[in-house]
Amino acid sequence: WWDHVQPAPKDPITSVTQAFLSDPTPLKLNLGVGAYRDDKGKPVTLECVRRAAEKISGCEILESTKATTKSKFVQDCIKLAYGNDSSVVREGRFAGVPALSGTGACRLFAEFQRRFYPNSQMFLPMPTWSNHHDIWRDSQVCTRTYHYYDPDTKGLQFQALVNDIKNAPDRSFFLLHPCAHNPTGVDPNYEQWKEISHIFKIKNHFPFFDMAYQGIASGDVERDATAIRIFLEDGHLLGCAQSFSKNMGLYEHRVGCVSSETSRPLVFFLETSIVSRDDKQATAIKSQLQRIVRAMYSSSPVHGPLLVSTILNDADLKALWEEEVKVMVDRLISMRITLRQTLEELNSSSSWEHITKQVGMFYFSGLSPEEVNQLQRDFHIYMTNDGRISMAGVTSSNVDYLASAIHEVTKV
Ligand code: PLP
Ligand code: LMR
Repeated sequence: WWDHVQPAPKDPITSVTQAFLSDPTPLKLNLGVGAYRDDKGKPVTLECVRRAAEKISGCEILESTKATTKSKFVQDCIKLAYGNDSSVVREGRFAGVPALSGTGACRLFAEFQRRFYPNSQMFLPMPTWSNHHDIWRDSQVCTRTYHYYDPDTKGLQFQALVNDIKNAPDRSFFLLHPCAHNPTGVDPNYEQWKEISHIFKIKNHFPFFDMAYQGIASGDVERDATAIRIFLEDGHLLGCAQSFSKNMGLYEHRVGCVSSETSRPLVFFLETSIVSRDDKQATAIKSQLQRIVRAMYSSSPVHGPLLVSTILNDADLKALWEEEVKVMVDRLISMRITLRQTLEELNSSSSWEHITKQVGMFYFSGLSPEEVNQLQRDFHIYMTNDGRISMAGVTSSNVDYLASAIHEVTKV
């Protein structure tokens, strides 16, 4: 039956962990997968999550309250992404469903896109999180790429990006990373987002924001939503995938949300009477998303959404969460500063300023595949083949070792 099944190609990110785990050397460093670690290299359970878990422990989740919990969660996600005071929230102009974290949210949107725009394509930034290509491919939506990162400046290739947006057919779908772009750590600035939004408007493109790192770019969850807020102000309809893996450390809980702003108020509960044609449309979007979920995995778990809502609706827990996000981001930034300083002190001839210019979880080093191999072979330092370094794996105890290893493989 299955003789024709060949081994699948390795995933460029998770295979790094596998290689790392099978290396018997005690002094080894995993800078592959982007999962937050503290300065001792340990995974972190946020205190706000611990307290929220205590608060809800013993709460019986009845069949009748599940739907309310999930609807509430979607509303909380929308507020967080689109802004408490936004007209979208005030007028309830959105359709959303809980998703199996950021990946599941992207997958649901991709399915939805194919179902209702079967011949459409998704434009992805070049480069992007490798799984984006796989998600849209498995959903049978063709992907194209748009210019984003400039290897020469290690910054944004803004003019080429603008040209690609202008040259794409009108009404194209574009995936945008609103903050802490993965893998490059390069985000457009405020003026550039304004311009991108302006051109999207002229071209009638549909922006789909994949927000896996809200808070992790600047340390401020509100500021990291700037791109989305600009698009909303400019009157776009948009889609959004949200994940709480990174900013709440809920990796294994798989908590996310996919939502789409709609032109008219959404009637949240499907049994509520439908009063106007536009309300009908909003309800239709939600019910179609639910239909996709039903056939894929029936329904999403309720515990993760309950944790998130408990944090977002308790002023003390929310303030604690925002502080804890800041602590994580400050640690990432301080590791960037130390790595750069240490490399500069080694009198390396290369420029290392982009280590501190880039933001978020990753430093896109520009190391070549040969240099990456050498780091792995000679120093047992593991990272993805494209030279992406997860700053979350860098600590005060290993940063000197990392700097001297990078210096060794890059010196001429
Ligand atoms: N989107 C981007 C850009 C990511 O970097 C990630 C990685 O975590 C995801 C989506 C998926 O997130 P999750 O782990 O929540 O599925
Ligand atoms: C990464 O890019 O390392 C993270 O987004 C984790 C993942 O699932 O790939």
